[in-house]
Amino acid sequence: MPRSEEGLILTQAIPAQIGGQPVLILREGTSRSRGRDAQRSNIMAARIISDVIKSSFGPKGMDKMLVDTLGDVTITGDGATILKEMDVEHPAAKMMVEVAKTTDDEVGDGTTSVVVFAGQLLKKAEELLDKNVHPTVIVDGYKLASDRALKVLSEIAIDVPPTDRKMLKKVAMTAMATKLVTEDKDYLADLAVEAILKVAEKDGDVYKVDIDNIEVEKKAGGSLVETKVIQGIAMEKEVVHPGMPKRIENAKIALLNTALEVEKTEISAEIRITSPGQMKTFLDEEERLMKDMADKIADAGANVVMCQKGIDDLVQHFLAKKNILTVRRVKESSMDKLAKATGGRVVTNLKDLTDKDLGKAKLVEERKLGDEEWTFIEGCVNPKALTILVRGGSEKVVDEAERSIHDALCVVRDVVRRPKVVAGGGAPEMEAASRLREWAGSISGRVQLAALGFAEALEVMPIALAESAGMDPIDVTVELRARHEKGERWAGVNVSEGKVEDMAKLDVYEPLAVKEQVVRSAAEVASMILRIDDVIASGKARMPAGPPGGPGAGEEGLESEY
Ligand SMILES: Nc1ncnc2c1ncn2[C@@H]1O[C@H](COP(=O)(O)OP(=O)(O)OP(=O)(O)O)[C@@H](O)[C@H]1O
Ligand SMILES: [Mg+2]
Repeated sequence: MPRSEEGLILTQAIPAQIGGQPVLILREGTSRSRGRDAQRSNIMAARIISDVIKSSFGPKGMDKMLVDTLGDVTITGDGATILKEMDVEHPAAKMMVEVAKTTDDEVGDGTTSVVVFAGQLLKKAEELLDKNVHPTVIVDGYKLASDRALKVLSEIAIDVPPTDRKMLKKVAMTAMATKLVTEDKDYLADLAVEAILKVAEKDGDVYKVDIDNIEVEKKAGGSLVETKVIQGIAMEKEVVHPGMPKRIENAKIALLNTALEVEKTEISAEIRITSPGQMKTFLDEEERLMKDMADKIADAGANVVMCQKGIDDLVQHFLAKKNILTVRRVKESSMDKLAKATGGRVVTNLKDLTDKDLGKAKLVEERKLGDEEWTFIEGCVNPKALTILVRGGSEKVVDEAERSIHDALCVVRDVVRRPKVVAGGGAPEMEAASRLREWAGSISGRVQLAALGFAEALEVMPIALAESAGMDPIDVTVELRARHEKGERWAGVNVSEGKVEDMAKLDVYEPLAVKEQVVRSAAEVASMILRIDDVIASGKARMPAGPPGGPGAGEEGLESEY
């Protein structure tokens, strides 16, 4: 099959006066595939990605174990993380990875949904392409249908008070139900709600939430219920000198981005010392310089130093003598957080340090967590600076707990920012599909086929949930369709009981923002992939996989059932 042309030598279009010589347009080694072949291989690659992560969708979804090139193991059911850890090569597959990442950045949840849905849209598109429906017609149909679906979603969404703790907790529990299968999610959901409400700021009629105010730190050991919110900052850093205090109340913190050492000259200089007296003067001078540093800090009124760089032993000694609690090699990101939290300013030249630059906190203390010493900065001037310290049985548990908390924080934030929710369990997708089918009757021509394809693709969500719970996908689809026809708006898949039920009664709620993002982004990425009819890859990049049966065709990926 002539699906790629090495070197792209174009001969036909060249005018005769050139003498019939082939003209090389692109560099040798460039490969190209176009038309249906390009489309097929792109669709296939994207669908394989979608099929890979489909099994981890929903509360009964399975986890994946990913091993990177260094042998590090990640165990997760989080779509964005799975895709991030997978070393994806194909450009169309990369687009799916990107859409999951964007969804994660925008709303924090729904990353599996968006990829699964986009994969299903492409599957439906493929069926239409086989019936000779032109890609642009499909793209137009998908656009109309996704606009309509967004409209339906916002119509059926329920308005809630933005700070309704009960509802926020339900939303957090739904997001975590798919990650941590333990009773601890109740506790962690409360914690996420508490954290977000603490950082939420009222701005006119709406709330603003800067999630960057919340730092999530993790430390293996203890149990998940020992996870807690700290009013301030916690870092895995110890106090540098044993002679220093381990606890300072009413801390005045100098934030330094400069090494507390005597700087070495850049040029190599040589000092000739001819007598022991000279040697002593030299050393005394060095000591004096270092003492000056400690004096300068003490004179500014600081009783705590957070230094981004290194600190000479002698400076540590002088600081200890002055009872100044000092921490060194603090991460740059932590320095920024410290500055924001304590109201201090990061000083890059010690000479500039004044009392105005000092940050303030009620307490700075070193405490032991597991085997390591941690420094806690609590009761900061800015009460919005929070740290969630995640504990758990093992490294892997803590990692997955961190991701669950991330999702929970994000969904709670989504609702606080935009207080609208829908029930979950595939109910909103089913309702949208059912209304889209009704509406599609009003569209004429082939675009209608695409719109109907979109509606069917939406049904992949409840079907995937049902499959993961071992239910029969056909029975579930039939029952769901019938119940939605009857007006049961929130009929969805109760995965724990294995039956179709009203998801609102089961308190399974999700932010409208997540559902909207999923529909919008999946439709966009599917359309983008469909519009490509020519893939020109330069010599360096590897050519995308060929059509089914060709090299690189993933066997499993093509055999999706619905
Ligand atoms: N108790 C439940 N019963 C039925 N469905 C549920 C329940 N809890 C959550 N769900 C559904 O599970 C789906 C979410 O699954 P999951 O969290 O695995 O994927 P995601 O949110 O799309 O991606 P990710 O969380 O990996 O970013 C949603 O459709 C949600 O409605
Ligand atoms: Mg989720």
